[in-house]
Amino acid sequence: MSDDPANLELTTDEMRRLGAGALEHIVNHIAALGRQPVRGDVDAEALCRALCGPAPEEGVPFESILDPLFREWIPRSFGTPHPGYLAYIPGGGLYPAAVADFISAATNRYTGVWLAAPALVQLEANVLEWFRDWMGFPPATRGLLTTGGSMAAFNAILCARERHLGRDVRPGVLYATAHTHHSVAKAAKLAGVFDDRVRHVAVDAQFRMRPDALADAIAADRAAGLQPFFVVSSAGTTNTGAVDPLDTIADVCASAQVWHHVDGAYGAFFHMVPALRPLLAGLPRADSLTLDPHKGLFLPYGTGALLVRDGDALRAVHGMSAGYLPGTPDPEAFYDPSQYGPELSRGFPGLRIWMCLEVFGAARFRAALAEKRALAEQAAARLSALDGIVLHAPPPLSLFAFHVTRPGATLDDENRATAALLERVTARGRVMLTGCTVDGRFFGRVCVLSFRTRQAQIDACVEDVAAATSFR
Ligand SMILES: Cc1ncc(COP(=O)(O)O)c(C=O)c1O
Repeated sequence: MSDDPANLELTTDEMRRLGAGALEHIVNHIAALGRQPVRGDVDAEALCRALCGPAPEEGVPFESILDPLFREWIPRSFGTPHPGYLAYIPGGGLYPAAVADFISAATNRYTGVWLAAPALVQLEANVLEWFRDWMGFPPATRGLLTTGGSMAAFNAILCARERHLGRDVRPGVLYATAHTHHSVAKAAKLAGVFDDRVRHVAVDAQFRMRPDALADAIAADRAAGLQPFFVVSSAGTTNTGAVDPLDTIADVCASAQVWHHVDGAYGAFFHMVPALRPLLAGLPRADSLTLDPHKGLFLPYGTGALLVRDGDALRAVHGMSAGYLPGTPDPEAFYDPSQYGPELSRGFPGLRIWMCLEVFGAARFRAALAEKRALAEQAAARLSALDGIVLHAPPPLSLFAFHVTRPGATLDDENRATAALLERVTARGRVMLTGCTVDGRFFGRVCVLSFRTRQAQIDACVEDVAAATSFR
């Protein structure tokens, strides 16, 4: 490091050394993932306390930071990039995305306004255009890359609020179900729609929104002088993977003139696969759609997206100018991120998506998604054949819920047995399963969405559940 006390630039040799040191750790880490237990040892209270401290006055050698990071701190996490991670909604972590992030940060170009980095913004616009195409949305669609599904939902609610409520937000009512992801209620609150204006529409036996109940709820609120403005349906719930009847809900929304948002954070990318489109019938009719590339496109965390069918609605929320900023010469032809989203200064979130799609090609993503769906169907069939395991429903996409049953057992007994089974399976270290409680029933869940999950992990899952059920 330079002796000049105000110098923050590294020499080219130092840059290479830092990069090579990090790369060595990263590659070793990824190569060893499958041999590590899937649930890291997260018992780290004492460690976290010891880690607190003031900023260092003097720098330390880079290697001395990397070592504890990779040896002590990173492993003390859920194994989200592990091949056997079937918990929650698995994330991804495609390697080219990490390289893209490195390039983005190192070149540090400004993509808030088109004119500052036109070609780079165009790559991001291309990504949004590809998403539009795969989701069957019309050309007038505009979108926004976000940090995740939560921010996508927030921006969707803002669009509907602007269009249907204007400044008078208080009468606005939003419709969801008890299975809608809680990020939607949080986004609603951020948008000024509080819990007394959020309705939980009744669901059917498979936890899908009932369109008749939705129509009734909208009518009742209108009759009470309120203003129904936003319906959110799920293209795959987090609990059980339920897909709401998107097409019929679109009909109800069209006739009631209410904004229809589809939360496709978990499931929408299955629409890329033509053979799976019938499972998501009606999705292309939505007014807006949450996509979470950090789930269904296997990208690293921090990659979300929103599509808005009428792009002008997104621009109406965010379009703004400032005397010191250059505009875009042709706003129709060239996308300007700050005119379609709440942020001005931003990095280059599009590069990680663009680079993965360029490196692998769309066909490989379609094949991977089709494989995850097939593996989930296979896992469901094999688990349901085990003595004492009951499937809640076949996987609507690549997620299904199950529970343990025993002759004469009470609901509480079965809940305890299901929770114990998940713990025993996960403790074996090969696959990680988590559960959810719905109407008092505790379910185990299997969600196949990691790009690293292949046949071997499904075999391990079935073997480990079988071993855990035989141990009563
Ligand atoms: C169905 C669904 N919607 C929305 C979200 C929220 O998305 P994010 O965590 O990317 O903000 C999640 C999960 O995290 C989800 O599973």
